[in-house]
Amino acid sequence: MFVSLEPDAAETVVFEFDGQKISAPRGISVAAALLASGRSSLRATPVSGAPRGPFCMMGACFDCLVQIDGVTVQACMTSVADGLVVQQVPRAMSETQSDHMNEDGGFVEHVK
Ligand code: FES
Repeated sequence: MFVSLEPDAAETVVFEFDGQKISAPRGISVAAALLASGRSSLRATPVSGAPRGPFCMMGACFDCLVQIDGVTVQACMTSVADGLVVQQVPRAMSETQSDHMNEDGGFVEHVK
């Protein structure tokens, strides 16, 4: 369970994750808001379906991928905002996308 160090934030925003309204302090990341709301998994890997959630919280691991307005972004690098519509990344990905991922859903670098 994640708890904010500043629970009485002066200003909050409301955004949506997979159709559910979530309230969070303005200025925190989408990943922090989702963790604080009790979610530990934000997506499933495209190959095995294993759950993945925010790990590094600094843009390095890509385990926090979500879709905002149809664009896949890192939840830890995106600030919450009023009316933001956030969704899990669909598990079914194109063959081209899955060619660049390992069995855990992490990105792999192809050397030619
Ligand atoms: S939690 Fe690692 S990139 Fe977002």
